[in-house]
Amino acid sequence: MSGSLRIKWDKSIETGNRAVDVQHKYLIDIINELADGIEQGMTAKTFQKILNLLKYYTLWHFGREEQCMEQYECPAAEANKSAHAVFIETFERFQQEYRQGGGADEIARRMYKVLTEWLVNHIQKIDGQLGPCVHGKS
Ligand SMILES: [Fe+2]
Repeated sequence: MSGSLRIKWDKSIETGNRAVDVQHKYLIDIINELADGIEQGMTAKTFQKILNLLKYYTLWHFGREEQCMEQYECPAAEANKSAHAVFIETFERFQQEYRQGGGADEIARRMYKVLTEWLVNHIQKIDGQLGPCVHGKS
C-alpha cells in the first residue's frame, strides 16, 4: 500500500525549540521522499540523490542542534554529540553497502528502516531533553 513507510510528525517528537523542530520536520520530509521512492520503485540513482540530500542536511542540522544544546547547557549535549557521530557512521556504511550492492531494493529497505527508527527514537529520547533546558533558561 502506498504511503505505509512514511513517518508522521506528531507531538511525541516535538522538542519545544522552534528552530530544531522546523529542521526535524524537514528531515521527515526528506525521509518520506525516500519512503515514497521505495514503494514506487525509484531508480538507484534517484535514491542515491535523496540519500545525499538527507546526509548533508542531517550533518548541517546536527551541527545546529549541538550548538543549541551547548548554548543552553543541556545535560544531554555530550550524549547527543556522540549519538550523532554513530548515526553518521552507520549512514555511511549503509551508503557504501548500497553502492556496492548495485542499488538493491533489499538494502534500500533495510537502510530506510534502521535509519528512520534510529532518528525517531533519537529525537524522542535525546533531542526531547532540549525543551526543558530552553524553557528553564528563558
Ligand atoms: Fe540530536
